[in-house]
Formats: sequence, C-alpha cells, structure tokens
Amino acid sequence: MENANVRPETMARITTKELADQFIEEQVAAVREQVGDGKVLLALSGGVDSSVVAALLIKAIGRRLVCVHVNHGFLRKGEPEQVIEVFRNQMNANLIYVDASDRFIDKVAGVNDPEQKRHIIGEEFIKVFDEEAAKLEGIHFLGQGTIYPDILESEKGIKAHHNVGGLPAEMEMELVEPVKLLYKDEVRVVGKALGLPENMVERQPFPGPGLAVRCPGAITRNRLEALRESDAILREEFANAGLQGKVWQYFTIVPDFKSTGIKDGKRSFEYFAVIRAVNTTDAIEATIEELPYDLLRKITDRITHEVPGINRVLYDLTPKPTGTIEWE
Ligand code: XMP
Repeated sequence: MENANVRPETMARITTKELADQFIEEQVAAVREQVGDGKVLLALSGGVDSSVVAALLIKAIGRRLVCVHVNHGFLRKGEPEQVIEVFRNQMNANLIYVDASDRFIDKVAGVNDPEQKRHIIGEEFIKVFDEEAAKLEGIHFLGQGTIYPDILESEKGIKAHHNVGGLPAEMEMELVEPVKLLYKDEVRVVGKALGLPENMVERQPFPGPGLAVRCPGAITRNRLEALRESDAILREEFANAGLQGKVWQYFTIVPDFKSTGIKDGKRSFEYFAVIRAVNTTDAIEATIEELPYDLLRKITDRITHEVPGINRVLYDLTPKPTGTIEWE
C-alpha cells in the first residue's frame, strides 16, 4: 500500500499558479471526503504553514473550520491584527482570538534561563490551546500545518515535528494535514494562489516562542516593547531598501544590559538593540548579510530616536557557527 507520508516520485514540483490551483482543487476534495460534515480545529499562528492550511480548509469547509489564534505576547508588531484582518474580516473565517499575553508574561517573569523560558512558554501554549478546545464541542479533527521537511526530519530523528507546540495526546483527534507532502517554496506558491497577502506568504522564519528568545535575561514589559518597536523599524527599513524576501532572516535583539549615553543633552542609562541579518539555506550554518552602511546608519538613527529605552545599536557580525541564529 502507498505510504501517505511519502511523496510519490511522480508528483510534480508546484511552481506555478496553474499547478497550485490543481493541487488546491485536489486537496479541497480530499478534505471534504475525510471530514464529511464534521468540524476541524486549527491553531493558527499566522506563520506561512498554518495560514496556508487555514485558507485551504476555509475553501473546503468554510466556517466548519474553527481557527484559534493565541497571542502569547511575543508576536511581532502588527501580527495578531493581520491574522484577524485577513482571516476574520477578509476570509470570513470562524476565528477565536485569545489574547493571553499577560498570562505568558507573568509566567516568565524573573526567568533568566533560556531553556526554562522556552519550556514555560511551550507548556503554557498547550494549556491555553487545550482550554479553548475544551470549550468547543463535537470537533473530531485537528488541522496541522505539517510540511514535508517536518516529516523527513522527524523520520531522521532530528526533531519531533509539532505545529501546535505538541499535540495534546488526550485530544485523540484525527489529523488533517493537507500540505504535508509539500516543500516550503510550494506552500508559498499555494498560499499565493489561495489569495493570501504577499507579506504573509513570504514571511521570514519566526521561532515558536517568538520575541521571548530575543529578549535575553528576565523579560520585562518595557524591554519587550523596546524589542518589538526596534524590530518593526528594522523590518520597515529592510522593506524600504528592497531587502524583504532577499535576506533570509533579520531581526533585533534587546539584551538585559544597560549602558551610559546622552539623550536630549542629558545622561541616559538605557538598553541597546542588536541588529542580526543572516543568510542560510538550511539554518544549520548561516552567513552574515553585508548590510549597506547607509541602511545601518538609518536604522540606528531611527531606533535610538524613536524607541524609548534604547540609546545604542550594535551589529552582530557572528556567523553560525560559532553563534546560533537566535541568541537564546
Ligand atoms: P538557531 O538559533 O538554532 O535557529 O540557529 C535556527 C532557525 O530555527 C529558528 N528557531 C525556531 N523555530 N521554533 C521554531 O519554529 C523554535 O523554538 C525555534 N528556535 C529557533 C530560528 O529562528 C532560525 O530560523
């Protein structure tokens, strides 16, 4: 029998709108067949994979897809708003939005250790998602944005793939994974064909614990806000410089360390923001993007003048190895 987790050799690489439309048509039929008149639950993070699965399932079963978007407080500026706008307002999705940011920030208060931070956020995410699922009745299917590299990696034992932060075992739901045989570039082509916005489909990778891993040391609301604002400025300036989609990953980090400076003629004692911009194909090794000096100067000027609590900007020149891409 054919293994449903192995991509058939005859399957064409989806590179065009026509091929994507054909794939969408087939998957819509397959999902309808699998689900019947049942409902599907989906954790919608706003990342490429879960967004494409959401759009596909909406096409197949409309409001019988129940999307849950959990805002853990570590999302980038404008992200939850975009998820609500695109899915609830434009696609008429059945979307439950949970703003759990206070709960997460309280949970990690005072926690310095990066691994402990990640663990707390992962566990809390499952709890919040479970609580929401428990309020719903009669849902027997769970949608997941599993893609082919996830399957290959979990088979090789590199990492367990989980897109819900770990499927709660007691949920015992049947999985619906319509893009599990696709590579990332194909998922993007399908997403575009489904009408998702360019900036959602071309989004750079973003870790599950989000900005929490870019706020080294014990997270405080002020420093997290400074990080979110500096990251938004960096992304805006990259877009203005035509670098969006050209550099693999770029973001800021705001460590828990203050230095002396001068603002408005007075002594300031504030945090610094670090610029990180890397290129890679597989995230196992990464090189540094050589950013134009003018761009660095512009970003530095804007962050130090527009973001409260930041008086310095640094540029991380460390490739992977010896650094990792993220700081935590
Ligand atoms: P590192 O820091 O290990 O990151 O060089 C490699 C790539 O993985 C991303 N990353 C994550 N992605 N959940 C994710 O989905 C995570 O917990 C996580 N941690 C790191 C990182 O952004 C980079 O692209």
